Amino acid sequence: MSRRVKRLVIVCVSVLFGVCFSNVQAELSSQQLLGKFLYFDENLSEPAGQSCASCHLPDAGFADPDTHLPVSEGVIPGRFGGRNSPSAAYAVFFPEFSYINNVAVGGQFWDGRAANLTEQAKGPFLNPVEMNNPNKATVIADIQASSYVGLFEDVCGPIVDVDAAYDCTAEAIAAYEGTDELNKFTSKFDLVMAGQARFTRQERRGRMLFNGRGLCSQCHLSGGMMMGGGGMGGMGGMGGSSGPVLFTDFRYHNLGLPKNTEYPLDQQPPGTIDLGLGAILGVTAENGKFKTPHLRNIAQTPPYMHNGLLKTLKEVVHFYNTRDIPGLWNPPEVAENVETQLLGNLGLTSSEEDAIVAFMLTFTDGYTPSGSGGSGGGGHGHR
Ligand code: HEC
Ligand code: HEC
Repeated sequence: MSRRVKRLVIVCVSVLFGVCFSNVQAELSSQQLLGKFLYFDENLSEPAGQSCASCHLPDAGFADPDTHLPVSEGVIPGRFGGRNSPSAAYAVFFPEFSYINNVAVGGQFWDGRAANLTEQAKGPFLNPVEMNNPNKATVIADIQASSYVGLFEDVCGPIVDVDAAYDCTAEAIAAYEGTDELNKFTSKFDLVMAGQARFTRQERRGRMLFNGRGLCSQCHLSGGMMMGGGGMGGMGGMGGSSGPVLFTDFRYHNLGLPKNTEYPLDQQPPGTIDLGLGAILGVTAENGKFKTPHLRNIAQTPPYMHNGLLKTLKEVVHFYNTRDIPGLWNPPEVAENVETQLLGNLGLTSSEEDAIVAFMLTFTDGYTPSGSGGSGGGGHGHR
């Protein structure tokens, strides 16, 4: 089942399939390789033309490369979802969704409505504002007609039952999303932590503010150094500085973001309010809360927030810094449950905001100590 496939085979199959994978890293198992074909296959939408990668592109931090819209367009032109595409990279690190003692942890999507990556991957194919298949059978028929159907049957067995084949499809995609092609850990931040690169003065200052007066690491856990107390590191048993740094607490908060009224969100029926986690759980105490995203490759994934309201990282930091200063921002879309302790009036100067931004720019994968930290990633991405 999970037999190893030689690199040569990967390359040959890639060529057959007509996709150029510029940078083959570690060997993928058959299941992971199948997942990769599925992830990039634009024939699995109805009509053809959209794949998972269309909205979660490697060169765009595995998020939507179209930065002109706050949300993503489906394969049918003019059809839009209601939220910004998050990164599919590092998503594997969110634990299975749980809601215990009134605290939601983990899960996939901004509102946690999919328990894990496998459940998540079953959604987009059938979503009319995404890949728009009328049913699972059309997805499986497209796979049956694909160049990689042999690999599919190796991994999933002969296609007899549509539901079973569809589940196996989702499992393979989830397996690919767990590989180091998506989870590289090759940013400048990682290299500095490993003692192989050095922050600039500004980046170092930004890191201190991120972990200190900016309060960012209270929710975007950054490894637990710098500040002794403050609840970071100890939250949810995340174990402080051990384990990979993901810059998230895996939890849900209402930041008090204003509604985004730009196109195409202005096409929604008047009075539409996105209640986030609250709508999923049917619990008013969770209204307006969204999942704390990881911040890896954050420079590559504008616009920001679940509604794409904020366009630059500077604007994001400015929002945290000044949300509560009268007259600067529109009122929250959801006025209940707004986080009041950890943001709103941080008293940061503009140059301190810039330093926090500079620190976040070090989260981009593919950094090489000699040159600039472009995307696309050199081959040194093994953890
Ligand atoms: C039309 C654009 C589009 C396509 C195509 C698409 N997605 Fe998404 N994806 C989104 C949006 C938008 C969200 C957030 C939706 C929400 O939270 O309500 C999302 C969320 C996700 C997440 C959750 C990440 C997190 O941190 O919560 C993952 C993982 C993901 N998509 C993977 C995939 C896979 C795998 C496919 C192909 C089967 C796919 N997407 C196809 C737009 C797209
Ligand atoms: C109270 C917890 C909390 C604190 C404190 C916090 N964040 Fe966030 N952050 C979140 C949540 C939750 C979201 C998603 C909110 C949404 O979309 O509704 C988010 C979103 C973001 C995003 C956008 C991510 C994306 O993919 O769109 C960035 C960037 C960010 N935060 C950086 C920071 C910085 C920098 C600080 C400190 C100045 C900070 N955060 C403080 C919880 C927090």
